[in-house]
Amino acid sequence: MNKATRKAIIAGNWKMNKTRPEAKALLEELKGMVADIKTVEIVACVPFTNLETALAATEGTNIKIGAENCHFEKSGAFTGEISADMLAEMGVEYVVLGHSERRQYFAETDETVNKRTKAALAAGLKPIVCVGELLWERECNITEEVIARQIKLDFFGISADDLKKCVIAYEPVWAIGTGKTATADQAEEVCAFIRAQLAKLYGAEVAEAITIQYGGSMNAANAAELVSKTNVDGGLIGGASLKAADFTTIIKAAENG
Ligand code: 13P
Repeated sequence: MNKATRKAIIAGNWKMNKTRPEAKALLEELKGMVADIKTVEIVACVPFTNLETALAATEGTNIKIGAENCHFEKSGAFTGEISADMLAEMGVEYVVLGHSERRQYFAETDETVNKRTKAALAAGLKPIVCVGELLWERECNITEEVIARQIKLDFFGISADDLKKCVIAYEPVWAIGTGKTATADQAEEVCAFIRAQLAKLYGAEVAEAITIQYGGSMNAANAAELVSKTNVDGGLIGGASLKAADFTTIIKAAENG
């Protein structure tokens, strides 16, 4: 298996943006623009409040819907939280887990990312698990150590069959929302390292089958070069996913990538 046989996935992470009418308008616009795309999986990960609207707006289309987080318990006294089962029951297909903003602002740890990933898989969701180093860690030359540790911990106890249902997003924290994109070579280097780590843990065949995305200031102008790299199988896009035309350009770049 190689890049040509792996699933290219372009996912938008809307973060805390869009009211329901705004969400509907964006998806209606996007729907028409990407209707003829067949070789790229298109995903919109939206705030919980937009899920029902998003699912209705994209029904019968080639746009899949994801959430931006889920809790690891099945139910119970966890005020303000949403379980994986609640998402699956709605028809949600993907869920972003371990995003650096969750790690940074909401005390998310590798242990809870691991628990959330297991809960999402048990509910039948496809987790998009985010890993990435801080600027300070890159400057100290420990990017590979940081990533290796995250991969080991976030996927601890997850079988090869379950791993194949996961997507990994390499998001260098210093590149998120900063306009500072990793160069295509930097993205390739770490995505290849992630695949090598997976090969050590799960064997080469499993590692070769996993979709690894790049995320961090990916936009209409730089997407083509990033997704042309051997180990970059798509993108997790924040800001540029909020504009239908820009998001479509990125999707089209992945079609040719
Ligand atoms: P930006 O594309 O806005 O940098 O965000 C990237 C990201 O965090 C996607 O999850």
